[in-house]
Amino acid sequence: MRFKLTIFQRAAPGRPFTFPGVRPSAVAAVNEARMRKLYVIMVGLPARGKSTLAQRIREGLEADGRQVAIFNNGDLRRRLLGAMSTRPEFYRPDNAEGRALREDLCRRNLERARQWLAQGGDVAILDATNVSAGRRTLILEELRDHPALFIECVNEDPLLLDLSIRAKARLPEYAAYSEEEAVASFRERLGYYEAMYTPVGDGPERFWIRVDSLANRILQEQPCEASPMYPAIREVLVCPWVRSLYLVRHGQTEFNLEGRIGGDPPLTPKGLEQARRLARHLRGERIDWLFTSTRRRSHETAAPLLAERPDLRCLALKEFDEIFAGDCEGMRYDDIRATMPQVTMQRNADKYGYAYPHGESYAMLRDRVRRGVMRVLFLAKDRPIIIVGHQAINRVVLALFLKHRKEDIPYLNVPQDKLYHLSVTPQRKLFERISY
Ligand code: F6P
Repeated sequence: MRFKLTIFQRAAPGRPFTFPGVRPSAVAAVNEARMRKLYVIMVGLPARGKSTLAQRIREGLEADGRQVAIFNNGDLRRRLLGAMSTRPEFYRPDNAEGRALREDLCRRNLERARQWLAQGGDVAILDATNVSAGRRTLILEELRDHPALFIECVNEDPLLLDLSIRAKARLPEYAAYSEEEAVASFRERLGYYEAMYTPVGDGPERFWIRVDSLANRILQEQPCEASPMYPAIREVLVCPWVRSLYLVRHGQTEFNLEGRIGGDPPLTPKGLEQARRLARHLRGERIDWLFTSTRRRSHETAAPLLAERPDLRCLALKEFDEIFAGDCEGMRYDDIRATMPQVTMQRNADKYGYAYPHGESYAMLRDRVRRGVMRVLFLAKDRPIIIVGHQAINRVVLALFLKHRKEDIPYLNVPQDKLYHLSVTPQRKLFERISY
């Protein structure tokens, strides 16, 4: 009996069990059983992509045959406390009642997570801000039976934060607020979270990963190598994740007919018909977000789609504007050849690296298009997307996913009557070109 008591003595939070006087093989077996399951604790300010990442981790691990469940404090809060927990004062660090209620919600989810693992689950993901060291100490005190891996999401892109906050303001919990009131209220709440923020690594946690949730990049980690789930989680964090992306080039323009580059020309009648065909072709396909460039030809191509789908969320991004040809904007390829032969010659010699005088090269496009794609994927939160781009832009988007040699990128085929459909996760690489 005494022996059994020793076996089941509690380990310090996050530490393996130690058993004085017990055979090392028995200790190893207990520790192995302990490591077979895992708590994943999300950390980060609101609107940093924690829930999207939590869902991806669940999907990635489930594909490996693991049983995974997510426990979200926000959902529980909205269900149990309703409107009183929407007010920013609820989050003020010196509001003892608010703190006690939030802690109670946290404990409820910790209990549910513990039950989940005890009853056969492999991984319990706790999705909440968990930004204070005190909260994370509480979690570690409560969850001693299996290791806890903390995943902190950071992302300070001002455009995304602004759009994400506006999206929060449209949630049912803000139904009684005007948009501006909701945004102001949410920003005040954010300020309270910022005031109590301790980054992972500076808190009590032993295993942690800090992730740039915009770039899908691990910034720093204190790995939990002994967990069999760790490699799959890492893979999810760094893999491009595109549920469904349609990539289309705008329809035919006046400039295309004349062989001119750049500018802001309208579509021709044929281009307008291509745009209508595109909308018809995609009928029945789920698309939640539409991204265009800021150019007229991109908007005109998107217009029939938008007309058919009033709920489609839509955003024009400068990152998707066509390659800027500088001094050659609006010129015909023939005129450039005749009047600026060195441009044609140098561009032919290195089309990827050559920048138009006062303009851009494909090499320069890469960074801005990448930023655009990252923004798009963050905002759409794994929901189906369409991008209506341009010839050079779409080449660069394709190359981001298909890993072409850089010198081949400027020659990828981007027709105006075909769309590309991509779906990329660690489990799935789909790439198809479809006529419409
Ligand atoms: O010709 C249409 C166009 O979109 C131009 O505006 C742009 O300069 C060009 O394609 C990019 O293609 P390339 O790099 O092959 O000239």
